[in-house]
Amino acid sequence: MDFHSRYGPWALITGASSGFGAEYARQLAAKGLHLILVARRQDRLETLAQEIQAETDVEVHIIPLDITQVSWLSTLRESVAEREIGLLVNNAGYGKVGHFLAMSPQELAQMIRLNVEAVTLLARDYIPAMKERGRGGMILLASAAGYQPTPWMAAYGATKGYDLLLGEALSTELAASGVDILTVSPGSTKTEFHAIAGAHNSALGVLASVDDVVAQSLRSLGRRISFVHGWQNKLATSMARIFPRSWVSQISGKVLGSRLKQEQS
Ligand SMILES: NC(=O)c1ccc[n+]([C@@H]2O[C@H](COP(=O)([O-])OP(=O)(O)OC[C@H]3O[C@@H](n4cnc5c(N)ncnc54)[C@H](OP(=O)(O)O)[C@@H]3O)[C@@H](O)[C@H]2O)c1
Repeated sequence: MDFHSRYGPWALITGASSGFGAEYARQLAAKGLHLILVARRQDRLETLAQEIQAETDVEVHIIPLDITQVSWLSTLRESVAEREIGLLVNNAGYGKVGHFLAMSPQELAQMIRLNVEAVTLLARDYIPAMKERGRGGMILLASAAGYQPTPWMAAYGATKGYDLLLGEALSTELAASGVDILTVSPGSTKTEFHAIAGAHNSALGVLASVDDVVAQSLRSLGRRISFVHGWQNKLATSMARIFPRSWVSQISGKVLGSRLKQEQS
C-alpha cells in the first residue's frame, strides 16, 4: 500500500502554526494528504494554508483552537466533522527551562494539560476509527529529553517520558490492527520551542533542522515504533538506559545547568 492509501485521505496535525507541526503539514501535503491544521494562532494557520494550497492540490482546513480549554475535544470533533482522519500528528507541546520551584502551579498544570492530557485524549478519540478501518497511523512527538530525568526542565522531561511510553505501549497494543504508531524523539531542533521555553541562546544544545527530523520520521512510520533523531541523541538515549538513573540525572543536570549559567552570564 502506498503512503496515501495507508494514511490518507486526511491528516490531523496539532501545533501546526510553527515548528514541527508546520513542517509535517508541508511534507504530508507533498505526499498528497489533505490537512486539518490545529493551533491557537489563526493568522499563522491561514498563511500556511495559503502557502500549501498555492503549491499543491490538497485541501486544507484550519481550526484555530486552544486544546487545553474546556470542551476543546468536542469543538474539535464538530470542526473535523465527517472527514476521515488517516493520520494523527499528535504534536502540540511546550516546555520551560529553570528551577521546578520557579514555575507556578498554573504553568505546570497548563503544560501537563497540553503535553499529557490533550495528547492522550486525541489518541483515544481518533485511533478507534482507524482501527475499525484496519489502517492509519499516529505520530507522537516525545523528545530525547523523555529518556532520562532532566533537571532544570524536570516537569517538561517527565511529560515527554509519558509521551514516549504511551506511544511505545500503544504501538504494541495496536500491532495487529493495521494502525502504525510512531513515537518521535528529536533532540534540540530549530523551532519556536526554545524562545517559549526561555532558553534564548541555544542553551538546549546544537539545533537540528526541522525538515530533516520530519523527513526521517516519515520514513520510519510503519517501519519501527520509535525514532530518535541524530547520532548524538541516539548515543545519549542508549546510555541513559544503561547507566544508573542517579548518574544520568546528575550528568544531565550538570550539562543543562552549566549552559543556562553561561546564558545568564
Ligand atoms: N524543538 C525542539 O527542540 C523539540 C525537541 C524535542 C521535542 N519537541 C516537541 O516537538 C513538539 C512541537 O514543538 P516545536 O519544537 O515545533 O515548538 P513550536 O515551534 O513552539 O510549536 C509548538 C506548537 O504547539 C502549538 N500550541 C501550543 N500550545 C497550544 C495549545 N494550548 N493549543 C493548541 N496548540 C498549541 C503552537 O501553536 P499556537 O501558539 O499557535 O497555539 C505551535 O504550533 C512539542 O511536543 C515539543 O515537546 C521539540
